Amino acid sequence: MDTSTLLFAAVSTILLVVALKKQLLPGLTLTQPNKERARLPPGITGLPLPGDILRLISAYRLPNPDLFLYKHMARHGTMFTAHLFGQRAVFSADPSFNRLVLNGDGRIVDSSYPSSVATLLGAKSVLVTHGPAHKGLHSLALTRLGYAALPPLVAHIDRIVLATMGKWEPGGAAMRLLDEARKIAMNLNIKHLLSIEPGPWSESLRCEFNTINDGFISIPFPFAFLLPFTNYGKALKARKKVALALQEVIRKRTDEKATDGGADRGKEENKGKKDMVDLLLEADGGSFSMEQMVDFCVNLLAAGYDTTSLTMTLAAKFLTETPAALAQLREEHDGIRKSKGENQSLEWSDYQSMAFTQCVINETLRICNIVNGVLRRANTNIHFKDYIIPKGYKIIALLGAVHLNNEHYENAQSFHPWRWQRNNNKVQDVPASNLFSPFGGGPRQCPGNELARVVISVFLYHLVTRFSWDEAEEDKVVFFPTTRILKGYPINLRLRSDSIS
Ligand code: HEM
Ligand SMILES: *[C@@H]1O[C@H](CO)[C@@H](O)[C@H](O)[C@H]1NC(C)=O
Ligand SMILES: *[C@@H]1O[C@H](CO)[C@@H](O)[C@H](O)[C@H]1NC(C)=O
Repeated sequence: MDTSTLLFAAVSTILLVVALKKQLLPGLTLTQPNKERARLPPGITGLPLPGDILRLISAYRLPNPDLFLYKHMARHGTMFTAHLFGQRAVFSADPSFNRLVLNGDGRIVDSSYPSSVATLLGAKSVLVTHGPAHKGLHSLALTRLGYAALPPLVAHIDRIVLATMGKWEPGGAAMRLLDEARKIAMNLNIKHLLSIEPGPWSESLRCEFNTINDGFISIPFPFAFLLPFTNYGKALKARKKVALALQEVIRKRTDEKATDGGADRGKEENKGKKDMVDLLLEADGGSFSMEQMVDFCVNLLAAGYDTTSLTMTLAAKFLTETPAALAQLREEHDGIRKSKGENQSLEWSDYQSMAFTQCVINETLRICNIVNGVLRRANTNIHFKDYIIPKGYKIIALLGAVHLNNEHYENAQSFHPWRWQRNNNKVQDVPASNLFSPFGGGPRQCPGNELARVVISVFLYHLVTRFSWDEAEEDKVVFFPTTRILKGYPINLRLRSDSIS
């Protein structure tokens, strides 16, 4: 039995127990159909019907995760109510409602992730912090990751991508592309946030993050800490190790600052070169606690790891399956490569000239939905169209279901990067920004989104200009409980015979 089957069984059991308990205690669920209840989005509003949720979950295990959702939505419209882990929740694939929820963060809704997420990322991490404290952390992340910080970084990214690719062995044994993409993503983040060069330290930290990630997809089981042999238990241990390692980095930096007055980094010419640790130590007049600083770093390192590396891998997979797109991408990148001297690194202006690359990245993000949806809780009764979503309800904004809806994207299931070259695929009555939100939106829009685009672009540039490859084994993308590629995409790599040096 593989992990996802196990997980499926565990989820089913829990839902069944919840359902049975509620049927034995009808007072808990059979509340009178009051006015508000009557105006909830349709769905399972009477007796809890775990069967529907089970079908939802099993649908997510299929290559086309939206099948169940579509059937459900055809019956009920694009919003419906269901039970999630014993709580009432409104699921939405309505682009306008999703936008309302994303933009209303901190006012009509707050983020609301399972407690296991808060435990693994840290109670003070960006994702689970609310109110003014969240605003502060979010803008701190943007200082280092946002658009304005990126131009000087392209050369660093270029160097780190090439360092990893330099160890590849074209013509050798099959290589799991996901593993390599992960090394690149983590090395970059560590260099970028902590100013630590890739080496044994970053590699061991990366392994701990692999364990933490396995914990995210294990069930948010409240007593999991009692079961150290589970993925979640292992993830908790890994989180502890990561926290200790980061504490050490921060302490060392504090000591350095105390002895030399932070001489190097404090110098005028080094302004703007501050890394995340410098920024954290100075934040709020230097009042951040160690816990705050560590949780912040864990959140950023975790959030930028699997997301970015999986997008790189899946882009390569789609390109392999769509030769015309690969040929066009190669043409774009070969053009840039020809204009460069032998060891000349990529620059910001090169990145800006990669127009088709951006189409490929958007199309990969649209189809794969690395983050299927975001979780919120209503802070107030939310009025939308004819519905009222009562205060306290969970809201799951299914960003991915919008991306895969044929009403919004012609032939939504097929990888067609050219659709991004024109704007003729969108229905006109919904603003385009509501139809494409792979990075969320509003006050919680992913602060790493521009950085991720640059990293993926540089990766694709070197991959297609230097190498060719084919699939060593067939591999499969699954979407539940998170988007993953089962075998890590094993490929046979070769040096390109017609490579430009
Ligand atoms: C392809 C890559 C990525 C995807 C698809 C992605 C997606 C997302 C999404 C959908 C959210 C919103 C969650 C919500 O609203 O509840 C988010 C938040 C976040 N992401 Fe990303 N992300 C990516 C890369 C990165 C990178 C590279 C970093 C940092 C190095 C990063 C750091 C964060 C942080 C800190 C948050 C929390 C923001 C907040 O709550 O204010 N992400 N990401
Ligand atoms: C480029 O780098 C390689 C290895 O670092 C070096 O051997 C070569 O001489 C360099 N070429 C130029 C033109 O600088
Ligand atoms: C890709 O998506 C972003 C929104 O995330 C948009 O701003 C950009 O214009 C899109 N790129 C192309 C080439 O359509």
